[in-house]
This record gives sequence, C-alpha cells and structure tokens, in this order.
Amino acid sequence: MILPLFIALLTQIQGICGQSVDKNGVTILEKIEEVERQMLNVFTLVSVVAPCNKISAPENPHSGQQTSAEWVRIVFHDTITKNIEGPGLGGLDASVGFEADRPENVGAFINVTLGQFTQFSSIFLSMSDLIGIGLSDSLATCDQPLARRIPLRVGRMDATGPGPAGVPGPTDSLAFAQAAFTKAGFTNSEMIQAVACGHSLGGVHHENFPDIVPDPNDPENLFGRSPFDSTPDVFDNTGVQEYLTRTGLKGGPLVVGPEATRTDFLIFNSDDNATITAMSTPSSFENTCLTIFQKMMDNVPAGTVLSDPVTVRPWILRESHLDLLASGGVTFSGTISGHSTPAPPATANYFYGTVGGGNTGQKTVQQSFVYPNRPNGGDPEDTLIGFGTIVDYEFNDTLSSPSITSINIMSSYTAPVNLNIFILPSQSFSNPVNGQRQSIIRVAVLGTLATTGTTMSLRIWSPNRQPGSVVPTFVNQNITMSFLRTQGDYKIYQAVALTGDGAPGSTTVQANLGTTQASVKVQTGSLKPCTSAIPTTC
Ligand code: HEM
Ligand SMILES: *[C@@H]1O[C@H](CO)[C@@H](O)[C@H](O)[C@H]1NC(C)=O
Ligand SMILES: *[C@@H]1O[C@H](CO)[C@@H](O)[C@H](O)[C@H]1NC(C)=O
Ligand SMILES: *[C@@H]1O[C@H](CO)[C@@H](O)[C@H](O)[C@H]1NC(C)=O
Ligand SMILES: *[C@@H]1O[C@H](CO)[C@@H](O)[C@H](O)[C@H]1NC(C)=O
Repeated sequence: MILPLFIALLTQIQGICGQSVDKNGVTILEKIEEVERQMLNVFTLVSVVAPCNKISAPENPHSGQQTSAEWVRIVFHDTITKNIEGPGLGGLDASVGFEADRPENVGAFINVTLGQFTQFSSIFLSMSDLIGIGLSDSLATCDQPLARRIPLRVGRMDATGPGPAGVPGPTDSLAFAQAAFTKAGFTNSEMIQAVACGHSLGGVHHENFPDIVPDPNDPENLFGRSPFDSTPDVFDNTGVQEYLTRTGLKGGPLVVGPEATRTDFLIFNSDDNATITAMSTPSSFENTCLTIFQKMMDNVPAGTVLSDPVTVRPWILRESHLDLLASGGVTFSGTISGHSTPAPPATANYFYGTVGGGNTGQKTVQQSFVYPNRPNGGDPEDTLIGFGTIVDYEFNDTLSSPSITSINIMSSYTAPVNLNIFILPSQSFSNPVNGQRQSIIRVAVLGTLATTGTTMSLRIWSPNRQPGSVVPTFVNQNITMSFLRTQGDYKIYQAVALTGDGAPGSTTVQANLGTTQASVKVQTGSLKPCTSAIPTTC
C-alpha cells in the first residue's frame, strides 16, 4: 500500500531554488504561466471546442458527436475509477488513454478527445491538466453569455498505464453506481449532481447504444444522437426542469428510455428528487455544477501536488524571445496580453528593470488584436471565453542597456529577462525528417561567461508515442553544443538534434552553461524550416 505513494513523492524533487519540480524539471510556476498563456490565446485549446455545438468529426458534420459533451464525459470516465480507500490510485490522471478499448468506454470519444488535446501537450501541461483545461473551456463556451469558468489547478501527473475498470453504465444497478461513486469519494447527493450536470450536454448515440436509442435513419443525425434535454448545446438547467416537470424530453433516454436502462431516473430519484430539486433554478444549477465539476477535476491520485486555483493575471507576457541582430545588438520581442471588462486600454505601458533596481524608462505599445472580434459571431475567436475582452499588444525592442534583468508590465506583472544565455529563434530551425524532427538550435552566451573549459549543453524534451494510448510521453536527452562564432558581445553555440518519433506535441529545449547558467525553456514549434540539405549551413 505504501509503494505508489512513495513513487508519487519521489517525482516531486526539489529544484535549485527550493521550488518543487516534476520529473521533467518543470516548476509549478512554469505550469501556471503556461496555463495563463493558453487561456488568453483564443487559438489554442478553446478554439477546438468553441462554439458549444461544434462537431468533433469535421469530415462528418452530421455525426452528432458534440465536442464539448465529449470533453465533459471524458472527465467522468477518467476520474470515477479512483480508489480512495485503497492505495489512492486513479482519479484525473489520463489513465483513460490506455482504456479506450474497454466495453465501459464504448464509442470513439476517448481517442478523439485525447487526440484533440495532444497537439497542445508539452512538458508544461500533462494530459491530465489538459483534460482539466478542456473541461473549463468546454463549460465556458457552453455557458453563454456568462462563460463562467471552473478555477483551474495544475500539476497533475499522467499515469503510465491503465487504471482499474468500473465506470458505471446504463445497464448497471443503482447500487453499482452508488458503490463506484462512494469508492471514488463522492456522496449520493454528489453523484446526483454530477450526473445531472454532465447530462446537460450531448446525449446518447444509437451508434454506441443501439439498445437504448433506436436508429432515427436521419441523414442529418448519422450517429443517431438522442439528446438528454432540449438544449444539448447549452450548459443550463433545462434538463433538470424537463425531468421534474415531465415536459420536453422529460430527462432524456436514460429517464424515459427502455426500462432496463433508466439509470438517470434511478439516480435522480434515489433521494426522492431532493438533490435535483435543489438545483433546478438557473443559478443553483450553475453553482452546484461548477462546484461538483471542480471536485471531479481535482480528484487526483494520492501524492499529487496541485497548485492553488490559477487566476489569470490581468496582464501577462504571453510570448517573448530574445534574439541577436547581425550587428550584435539584442532584440526582445513578444506579445503582452491584457484582459478585463470593460476592455483594456488601446495602449499598454511597460519598462525594463536593470541591475540594482533602476529601469530604462517607460515604453508604450499599441494594441494589435482584440477578442472577441465581433460581429463575425460563430468563429472561435468570437465566442466569449470568460475573460471579458482580451487585447494583445505586440512589441519589439532593441535593448540598449546590457544590465537589463526584467520586464515590468502595467506595474502589475514582472518577468525576468536573462541576457546571459538565450536561444536564438532567427538562427534556429526545425524540419520533419523520416517521421522525426531534425532541429538545429543556436544559442547566444555572453562571451565573458563562456570562458575556456566551460561546457555548453542542450537539454531537449520531445514527445514520443507510448503503446496503448494516443497520449505522447516526453523523452529527455542532453547533447553537447559546439562553438560556432562570436557575434558582438556573445558567443554562439549550436547543436543538431533528431527528436521525437512523429508523436504529436511540442518539443522544448533549454541551453545550459555548465551548471551555472540556464536559458529560458523554449518550445520549438514555431521555428522555421531549414531549406539547406546540411543543417549547420542554415
Ligand atoms: C452512473 C452514471 C452515468 C451513466 C450510467 C452514464 C451514462 C451515459 C451514456 C450511456 C451516455 C451516452 C454516450 C454515447 O452514446 O456516446 C452518456 C453520455 C454522456 N455522459 Fe454520462 N453517465 C453517467 C454519469 C455521467 C457523469 C457523472 C457525467 C459528468 C461528467 C457524464 C457526462 C456525460 C456527457 C457529457 C455525455 C454526452 C456525451 C456525448 O454527447 O457525446 N455522465 N452517459
Ligand atoms: C421524482 O421525479 C420524477 C420525475 O418527475 C417522478 O417520476 C418521480 O415519481 C419523483 N419521485 C418522487 C419520490 O416523488
Ligand atoms: C524586431 O526588429 C528587428 C529590427 O529592429 C528585426 O530585425 C526583427 O526581425 C524583429 N523581430 C521580430 C520578432 O519581429
Ligand atoms: C485508441 O488508441 C490506442 C492507441 O493508438 C489504440 O491502442 C486503441 O485501440 C484505440 N481505441 C479505439 C477505440 O480507437
Ligand atoms: C540532463 O541534464 C539534467 C540537468 O543536468 C539532468 O537532470 C537530467 O537527468 C539529464 N538527462 C539525461 C537523460 O541524462
């Protein structure tokens, strides 16, 4: 019984600054920042699920597989098999990725959903954190116009194999469902809430449950979806109302369908409708559901260290990088993002902090993009995603002072700027080669630091396939960098690396000078391809 907990604790090694790091050397603060960057970017995960009625099979627009509903359902199927009494295993840990072929997971939703998430996976966000972000994004896009969000915690660790079976299904007894929820840490009342909240979206498909839903023989509804309520693409109390008042769809196929599969009725009725009646108004429904979904999302394996709930700061540096001009001058460019209601101002200001506490004076930058960008309602970027108006401000500065150590935005956000050692995006390249990626990474190190005898190495984390799951695993390698040339005050080092095995996900690199200096970790996804056959000549 002690072993799994022990393993979980071992993976939380102390980092150099006393900050807890995971097995990839990533701190909880790096994870939080990555979540903030994802959330304020309407082209990341949220664009896959918005608007709420989006179909997960674009090649088959009449399938009736609603992405938002699948993203909610997967949380249930991943977390319900947790065992709180036993070794504390299971919970939201992406083990569901290894369980796609089980009869209790009938349908394509696991591989489809996790497949949608994999393109955003990196060492910063585990698949189980992405499932959590997916739930928050899904509910926000289905909860228009309020777009309320579940507070997100990060730090979940992915399982490396399948967990126990036992997801209750529509032919199981009430006692079976109650036992499963109890074992996972939920009371009877919480079980009722979870089912009523989940079954506000989507429905039962003939394709997956032919004994529950007859084939509608409808070319507009190819998988034969029979919705739970009259508004399957709105996260609201309609289903609860229709069940209690026996109007509309009367609670849907698991209430009024075949006698042997009325699990929703058995569950809702298990306390004489007391719990479901208490969540029948729009606001009690929403409050109850956000609370129970948060509990499901934070139902993690014992030993997992979750962050505090992440509040996306009003101003962040969403993306940034240092680079060198041919002249040797240093540029710092990127995107500042602000969000608020009413909209953030047309200009943002910031300054660079210098050694000793001074600064280089205030700078002003104009807004570049505003989201939502009405009135093209229907595009992902036009769906309210719960942050009021998001404004991006793109900047590009030539840094005049070598003693710059930080950037301070709107007197509310500060981030370090490390001029000692940095990856050079303008001189680095990445190409697909035989199912792998070949990258040439060049790094600038301040010449005064790179004295003889120092070794420069590149740490690389790349996604690789793992048997039995569509979720990639991240493999780490360290390679030695070689000196290329001097450019201004900097020495340039380079390394050529063959990474990954074609698995989706983002490769991250970090340059290290001995053990004393480390660059920021950079994801290589945005590097341009090298057009020369010999990478070192690019
Ligand atoms: C004993 C408990 C439960 C049973 C027996 C049950 C059963 C089912 C069944 C049979 C379907 C149809 C799937 C398909 O045809 O693709 C379904 C769909 C769904 N379930 Fe549950 N469920 C339960 C609990 C939950 C919970 C707690 C949640 C909340 C996270 C949830 C969320 C969903 C969602 C969102 C869908 C719609 C999926 C879609 O439209 O693609 N379910 N459920
Ligand atoms: C609970 O509500 C359902 C649906 O309206 C109804 O059929 C059932 O009889 C109610 N149960 C009790 C104990 O009143
Ligand atoms: C920043 O500006 C410099 C010229 O000052 C230019 O060479 C460089 O490409 C720009 N960087 C970006 C990312 O736009
Ligand atoms: C899901 O993907 C995994 C990994 O590729 C595979 O082993 C499994 O058979 C797939 N299951 C379904 C139902 O697609
Ligand atoms: C790479 O280097 C880091 C830091 O020195 C170390 O923690 C890690 O274990 C190394 N990885 C491999 C695969 O040797």
